[in-house]
Amino acid sequence: MYEIIKELEDRRDVARLGGGERRIEAQHKRGKLTARERIDLLLDEGSFEEFDMFVEHRCTDFGMAETKYPGDGVVTGWGTVNGRTVYVFAKDFTVFGGSLSETHASKITKIQDMAVQNRSPCIGLFDAGGARIQEGVAALGGYGEVFLRNVLASGVIPQISVIMGPCAGGDVYSPAMTDFIFMVKDTSYMFVTGPDVVKTVTNETVTAEQLGGASVHTVKSSIADKAFENDVEALLQMRRLIDFLPSSNLAPVPEMPSFDDAERVEDSLDTLVPANPNQPYDMKELITKVADEGDFFEIQDRFAGNIVTGFARLDGRTVGIIANQPTVLAGVLDSDASRKAARFVRFCDCFNIPLVTFVDVPGFLPGTAQEYGGLIKHGAKLLFAYAEATVPKVTVITRKAYGGAYDVMSSKHIRGDVNYAWPSAEIAVMGPKGAAEILYRAELGDADKIKRRIEDYENRFANPFVAAERGYIDDVILPRTTRKRVTRALNMLRHKKTENPWKKHDNIPL
Ligand code: HXC
Repeated sequence: MYEIIKELEDRRDVARLGGGERRIEAQHKRGKLTARERIDLLLDEGSFEEFDMFVEHRCTDFGMAETKYPGDGVVTGWGTVNGRTVYVFAKDFTVFGGSLSETHASKITKIQDMAVQNRSPCIGLFDAGGARIQEGVAALGGYGEVFLRNVLASGVIPQISVIMGPCAGGDVYSPAMTDFIFMVKDTSYMFVTGPDVVKTVTNETVTAEQLGGASVHTVKSSIADKAFENDVEALLQMRRLIDFLPSSNLAPVPEMPSFDDAERVEDSLDTLVPANPNQPYDMKELITKVADEGDFFEIQDRFAGNIVTGFARLDGRTVGIIANQPTVLAGVLDSDASRKAARFVRFCDCFNIPLVTFVDVPGFLPGTAQEYGGLIKHGAKLLFAYAEATVPKVTVITRKAYGGAYDVMSSKHIRGDVNYAWPSAEIAVMGPKGAAEILYRAELGDADKIKRRIEDYENRFANPFVAAERGYIDDVILPRTTRKRVTRALNMLRHKKTENPWKKHDNIPL
């Protein structure tokens, strides 16, 4: 028996070394952790149960029969994050650059299947060069199996991808179909094909960072949701994110013990909105003052800053927050902001996370750049997402709610459940100046007359009461009581049950 146990230990030791000491050292020199070190940081101490440690590839071409590594470039299994089960796979760059073989793919699909069957999140840590070139179509088939499961799991369990090294081909397409993509600054890259292939095909000289670094994907392409300074920060932040997320579409939102009084009154909010309607203020101040312990996990913090999205808790329970941000482009809705918020709203609705919307929006951004870029369709995405959402929806209009953007931002008309306005709210088809100039075009030459017309419009519509008189606003609330009123509304809506008409699936304007 002793020999058998010794052999098992020896085999495990070999597997734990992945591609060997030299490649592990190279990985560390690049500022990256190994697959196993990453899993250790992500999961609760000692909770990782590894599967398929001894799986090897079956390729015999290109001398591959002589080059085998137990585990074949991916470490898979399950463990816990603050006591809750998650499934995880981590690509091992030290083995064939983490590339995917047929057997490597079946290790991942086993984890994906278990995650769906047992309704727990699936987290992929990516550091890999795509399909294993030596395996050809067998590797491509393997990717197809992974992609299919990404799609079938979508909306059933949260799927999270963390990009922690150079990733190409299938190692970016699979993440692209998951709910969130996170990156590590300066060491992670995402591209369909790397700089060498780009040079060959297009003769374009580009660095990996310029082609697909965190600075590209969190700011320009919006493919990544957030970037972190290093592996350690990324993994610890993933633990924080998972604490916000339900385990599946059938699970309730997690409840955390909160030491923050749900009825807390925040006097400073009474003076948050400046007297001048054109002066900006920071909507994040409202969010952090309303959230439990000021804890806000922002998604897409470096893209479309005119809308803010992220997770917070109220009375210990997760909510998704969507808020126009007056400090960026006056909080206007443009194509990028609409797409960003629509995706977030849909994620929350998939997983029964209530939506809290803070509104200060001067409308949709006019102009050829936006119209040519498809503003109508992108704006419709957000309208569609809010309208189809059946989760509890609580809305607070802090200042402007103009035009179509009023309807879009979780208004009563598209099934907002509880809609509040601060006394500073202005709800109208457009701002008073624009309205007066259209209605009284003939008087444009007379500055005094136009001024009076603007004042008239302001007096009539630059307040929340016209909407409140119609019941479009349930109540006009004191800003300082926002946390209490929103929390109470959400508690009242806790057992909300609404269903959309049966359909195979909807046809959101993509
Ligand atoms: C087999 C691979 C590999 C791959 C890297 N390696 N990619 N082995 N198949 N796809 C191996 C290298 O041979 C090397 O082995 C080790 O991994 C590290 O690679 P380097 O090139 O030295 O590292 P680096 O300079 O950091 O560059 C990383 C990289 C680059 C950017 C990922 O290796 C690269 O561009 N690889 C090819 C990417 C690609 O085009 N893949 C196919 C995509 S198609 P040694 O022995 O030296 O350690 C695809 C289809 C899916 O995925 C379908 C999508 C819809």
